[in-house]
Amino acid sequence: MAASSHEHLHAATLKNLSTAMHGEAYAHAKYLLYAEAARKSGHAELADVFTRAAKTERTEHFAEEAALAGLAGSNAENLRDAIAGESYEAKTMYPSFAEEAAKAGDAKAAKLFREIAADEAHHRDAFQAELKKIDSHR
Ligand SMILES: [Fe+2]
Ligand SMILES: [Fe+2]
Repeated sequence: MAASSHEHLHAATLKNLSTAMHGEAYAHAKYLLYAEAARKSGHAELADVFTRAAKTERTEHFAEEAALAGLAGSNAENLRDAIAGESYEAKTMYPSFAEEAAKAGDAKAAKLFREIAADEAHHRDAFQAELKKIDSHR
């Protein structure tokens, strides 16, 4: 994480902030899915409860933790961090997940992991192209 981590925080606090941010980001995405499910099943009020909570996880909890941790840095730092993350997902994480799924007989999961690996490679390339533009302006 942390493109430019905060020097005033203890390493354990930074680690906990990272764990907390992963949880908040996941809760945000999950609650939006739950809201969608509630809406589809005709439970509009429940959908609103999920949507409001999702918003708080993202715009308050995640955002405040990210600010404290110094997650976002300069555009160049953010791009380098994003490139590293997408590269890892495209080249290491998703391919190994796909292989493991295939070996386990989970063909659908293997296919999904392979498709997503290709998407992540596109994200990496798009970020790399942007970083090049920034570098050439120096
Ligand atoms: Fe939260
Ligand atoms: Fe991605």
